[in-house]
Amino acid sequence: MSAEKISVLLLLAVIGSHAAPNASECDGLTKRLPTKDLNKIFSNWVLVWGVSDREEAIDMLPNVSSSHVEFKLLPDNKTFSYIERNMFNHNLSSCTTYFIHMTVPSNIETELQTLHADNIRLEKGRQPVEYNDTGAVDFYESCSDCLLLVYKSSRFRYLLSYKEEGSHRDVEQHKAAHDDHRKLAECLGFPKKKPYVYDRVADFCHKKSAPEANPDNQS
Ligand SMILES: *[C@@H]1O[C@H](CO)[C@@H](O)[C@H](O)[C@H]1NC(C)=O
Ligand SMILES: *[C@@H]1O[C@H](CO)[C@@H](O)[C@H](O)[C@H]1NC(C)=O
Ligand SMILES: *[C@@H]1O[C@H](CO)[C@@H](O)[C@H](O)[C@H]1NC(C)=O
Ligand SMILES: *[C@@H]1O[C@H](CO)[C@@H](O)[C@H](O)[C@H]1NC(C)=O
Ligand SMILES: *[C@@H]1O[C@H](CO)[C@@H](O)[C@H](O)[C@H]1NC(C)=O
Repeated sequence: MSAEKISVLLLLAVIGSHAAPNASECDGLTKRLPTKDLNKIFSNWVLVWGVSDREEAIDMLPNVSSSHVEFKLLPDNKTFSYIERNMFNHNLSSCTTYFIHMTVPSNIETELQTLHADNIRLEKGRQPVEYNDTGAVDFYESCSDCLLLVYKSSRFRYLLSYKEEGSHRDVEQHKAAHDDHRKLAECLGFPKKKPYVYDRVADFCHKKSAPEANPDNQS
């Protein structure tokens, strides 16, 4: 095959992978999590890919070294906690933790409706910080040990893709997975910007990222 033909094929491949998703592709990608599958979220998650729709948030993404999320059903079975711990520039003192409470939906719709935060508490470097913004989440269908959600405050939206803690070190850094995320982002109206991508090794605010480095294995 001539070099010219090869470069045409490569060019086509590049154009193909960057084509905007059409409406039917978007329908396939934007499937919300069914309410009956809400149990799937109750675990520990590591952010592996993320984008935002606001310039300030986009500028901050490269400084995020890790973001860990824990969803836990509370004993009343009616509420769950949503704890997000973010570390910036590999600096433990920079850790920012959001403690959010949400209500388990009681209606069994075919898909999960937007869930709203009942309250949000924020700590920076273990000190409480005043926080008065709203928070809401849309969960999307994803692979079996993955979590895909859109977090909405009054000012920002984030599209966030998580891998279950434990398999976060063998995350697919491959273009194919990122292409699907990028397409979903486009379908949901996010600007085309460089995403956050986890480096697979950065530690979390409350524990090491390598499982063998957490001997007591508490979570
Ligand atoms: C949408 O794009 C997909 C994948 O590129 C293609 O297979 C499908 O035929 C397209 N559908 C429409 C309605 O254009
Ligand atoms: C990101 O971190 C760098 C280096 O610490 C800092 O100079 C910069 O202001 C940070 N950017 C944002 C948006 O916080
Ligand atoms: C919550 O659900 C679990 C498992 O379904 C059940 O064993 C437990 O009794 C429930 N607790 C309450 C307070 O309803
Ligand atoms: C770590 O973060 C804290 C809190 O944001 C900051 O005061 C400190 O200067 C940072 N340390 C380094 C080495 O950047
Ligand atoms: C939150 O507090 C800030 C500053 O204290 C204020 O400007 C803003 O209007 C408040 N937002 C809401 C939603 O109450």
